[in-house]
Amino acid sequence: MGKKVSLTGIKPTGIPHIGNYLGAIKPALDLAEDYESRYFIADYHALNAIKDREKLKNMTYEVAASWLACGLDPEKSLIYKQSDIPETFELTIILAAFTPKGLMNRAHAYKAKVDENVSKNDDPDAGVNMGLFTYPVLMAADILLFDSDVVPIGKDQKQHLEMTADIAEAVNKNYKKELFKIPAPKMGKSTQYIVGMDGRKMSKSYDNTIEMFLPEKKLRKKIMKIVTKPVSIEAKKDPEDCNVFELYKLFATKKQQEELAEKYRAGGMAYSYAKEKLFEAMNEFLKPMREKYEYFMNNKDEIEEILKTGADKAREIAKKKIKFLRKEIGIINIS
Ligand code: TRP
Repeated sequence: MGKKVSLTGIKPTGIPHIGNYLGAIKPALDLAEDYESRYFIADYHALNAIKDREKLKNMTYEVAASWLACGLDPEKSLIYKQSDIPETFELTIILAAFTPKGLMNRAHAYKAKVDENVSKNDDPDAGVNMGLFTYPVLMAADILLFDSDVVPIGKDQKQHLEMTADIAEAVNKNYKKELFKIPAPKMGKSTQYIVGMDGRKMSKSYDNTIEMFLPEKKLRKKIMKIVTKPVSIEAKKDPEDCNVFELYKLFATKKQQEELAEKYRAGGMAYSYAKEKLFEAMNEFLKPMREKYEYFMNNKDEIEEILKTGADKAREIAKKKIKFLRKEIGIINIS
């Protein structure tokens, strides 16, 4: 039996931060060990929100370079752009015919927007485009086109996966045949999160992130700004109650951690010392990735080459699936 398929979509949303890397990117990339793994850039999903040509283009390059820098190996896994797989959009139309409008009315992203409008006494659908409304159908097409077994996602995408399953089941039921595999979500542990610079969960919305590919100087400056307790240098400190040490644990060896913990407990240590140690450990970890990221951003033709190879392989799979589906649903295949 062949390996199971894992597939995930990456929205172009700028350069990832440490929390994105440890919480989502790394776990998704680790699946390449056990699964036939596929990663695609959801550029047409992004069009719903990004209407600026240069911005959309740039973010697409950035996200591709980021994942490649983080260790996505194009020899081992598929990486492609959604926009290079036109079969996705044909499947979207097929699935739309099986998707109750009421199901879409319940989608979180759409509902949140409607609720916001209603609370402001606006027209309920103000600012809602059809792309946002039908987003879950396109996402279902992304997934079902490739017979995905598992889909690594964040908690916020759980509902979309349930809708994908609902839509797939509606099709299977209609034709009394398993035309689609029902995919399972693969979610990270929700209890685990990466601490941000202010002690809250690292998140763009809190403006407390440390980006992955900051130049050395900027990285150092950010680390120096991590919030610590207002206690004297002489004070004995608890390493387990410190944002700096919490981050240090993610990047330092056990031995390094013990050494620094000892300094905390002994007293006489300035937080700037701990921050310097954190900078050293983090920089060592991030440096090769930063260099790779910069290399790709300076050689965008190589990114394109990789995406092209990925798209060619992905399309072979997609074309077969569409041909099969057309036959099954009664759309005449000419050629
Ligand atoms: N909706 C996902 C997000 O916002 C991105 C995405 C699009 C996706 N298509 C997908 C994720 C298919 C998994 C599978 O992050």
